[in-house]
Amino acid sequence: PAVFRWMWRLTYVSVLGTFVYIGYEIYQDRNPEPQVPRDPSKKTLVILGTGWGSVSLLKKLDTENYNVVVISPRNYFLFTPLLPSCTTGLIEHRSIMEPIRSICRSKKGPVTFYEAEASSVDVNRKIVKIRDSSDIRGDSNETEVPYDMLVVGVGAENATFGIPGVREHSCFLKEIGDAQQIRKKIMDCVETAAFKDQPEAEIDRLLHMVVVGGGPTGVEFAGELRDFFEDDIRKLIPDIADRFRVTLIEALPNVLPSFSKQLIEYTESTFKEEEIAIHTKTMVKKVTDKTVEAEASKPDGTKESVVFPYGLLVWATGNTLRPLVRDMMASIPAQKDSRRGLAVNEYLVVQGTRDIWAVGDCAVAGYAPTAQVASQEGTFLARLFNNMAKTAELEERIQTLSSSLNLKPGVNSASVTREIEDTERKLQRIKDIKPFHYSHQGSLAYIGSEKAVADVAWFNGNVASGGTMTYYFWRSAYLSMVFSTRNRLLVLNDWVKSKVFGRDISRE
Ligand code: FAD
Ligand code: NAI
Repeated sequence: PAVFRWMWRLTYVSVLGTFVYIGYEIYQDRNPEPQVPRDPSKKTLVILGTGWGSVSLLKKLDTENYNVVVISPRNYFLFTPLLPSCTTGLIEHRSIMEPIRSICRSKKGPVTFYEAEASSVDVNRKIVKIRDSSDIRGDSNETEVPYDMLVVGVGAENATFGIPGVREHSCFLKEIGDAQQIRKKIMDCVETAAFKDQPEAEIDRLLHMVVVGGGPTGVEFAGELRDFFEDDIRKLIPDIADRFRVTLIEALPNVLPSFSKQLIEYTESTFKEEEIAIHTKTMVKKVTDKTVEAEASKPDGTKESVVFPYGLLVWATGNTLRPLVRDMMASIPAQKDSRRGLAVNEYLVVQGTRDIWAVGDCAVAGYAPTAQVASQEGTFLARLFNNMAKTAELEERIQTLSSSLNLKPGVNSASVTREIEDTERKLQRIKDIKPFHYSHQGSLAYIGSEKAVADVAWFNGNVASGGTMTYYFWRSAYLSMVFSTRNRLLVLNDWVKSKVFGRDISRE
């Protein structure tokens, strides 16, 4: 029938269109247009960090208006929402990394990148001190970079609350190196547990994976870990599979405290089905090389000590300040009451400073430390800086026009006056930039067995959903959000590869 013919044609055209679009994107990435020459008379805008905040700023910034310098010890952007999937090899780590050099090269105006750590900021001299902390160093590994405008987007460090043994014995889950370490360690525990004549108690310890922190990082990692065992390890090493256990320890009365009550209950019941043990109201106090020591609050209000022997310990208890941010806060008197990061005003200007802005996890603007907030802040700053450049250009134009009116007799004063008025109106519109406003799109988290939970903003309300459909929504949302077409194709390829062949369990 005609309807099928049309449907077939429509499908054919959309598939063809998608391929043409992908091909065009790849061509554009591989063959960027020549950049405009560097102009030293432009203001120097220094951006610290290559995370969510800084890269969102860079993406939307008209770099031809400034001399842009990016400084970060990491020469790539990392798509953190898919990092837990790298710990089990579901996704290969390079699939969620985008080299900062290609981001810089894709800009119309040139961008300078230094792979270095900012060690201090001198707000009076307007200088950033930078240090090359990589393994290979040249003759110069410490220097100064002057700035006219500075954006601090250095993120945060892992919080340990000074609990003894955490730094020495646990793995974190923040950077690519952490995910690689966890992946290796999981297989190390498995292979050592399968070693000939291993004592029973030791097998149980080695196959006990403990996660501390029931926030989204801890929950997503526990879910991925359980999938890995059920989908792959159980099939390949059945002898030890029944001994494998995952335990999640959380100090508060429930996991995922930032999600709605309904989704917390759904997550906890799904974890029960997945046989992931949750210990809530349990505060870890000490970590040794083989045990986690915690204090659990019982229903009658009394406390008891609990010891968890472990093979792998992953510590996911949130964020704390980076030393650079702590030092900056100490040197700026207006920051003395701030505890969680650089306090910023509604235009993200660091309070008590001029020409310094902060974005993301290192800034305190009244929002949660998430990628969503950081990227919206970065985009806001790009708009602000683009407008500031346009403002300067228009002000200069008004000045030129006004002086021609005063100095050159014979110019058509009516038309010049009209142009001045038009330019002033344009200028007013640009200057009228509204303060930063965060628009929450929702929260998503993977909880294992192809299920996810989502609290999604819908018109003026909120829709809470959990299950397999939400999992497909989670996957498609993140696939559409990864940085580039290259990342998108690689992630898709990893998902298909893992489904067809299973995860690669070889230990590097
Ligand atoms: P980051 O992205 O951490 O970037 C900081 C940058 O600064 C890095 O490039 C770093 O190398 C650089 N840097 C560090 N020190 C210095 C220095 N001294 N000088 C110069 N540069 C420096 N949020 C969500 O909204 N949704 C999610 O699904 C989600 N999933 C997550 C999963 C995991 C496993 C983790 C750990 C976090 C997740 N988050 C998620 C939170 C999100 O990743 C952070 O809120 C976000 O990365 C913050 O962005 P940022 O730019 O402030 O910092
Ligand atoms: P978090 O701060 O959200 O959670 C840490 C948890 O650890 C808290 O619930 C805390 O009570 C618990 N804790 C602290 N000390 C403890 C101790 N000694 N013993 C036991 N429990 C202890 O940290 P997380 O999960 O790393 O997230 C950081 C930020 O990144 C958050 O803003 C989060 O929303 C965001 N994120 C979002 C994701 C998503 O939307 N899917 C995924 C991962 C992170």
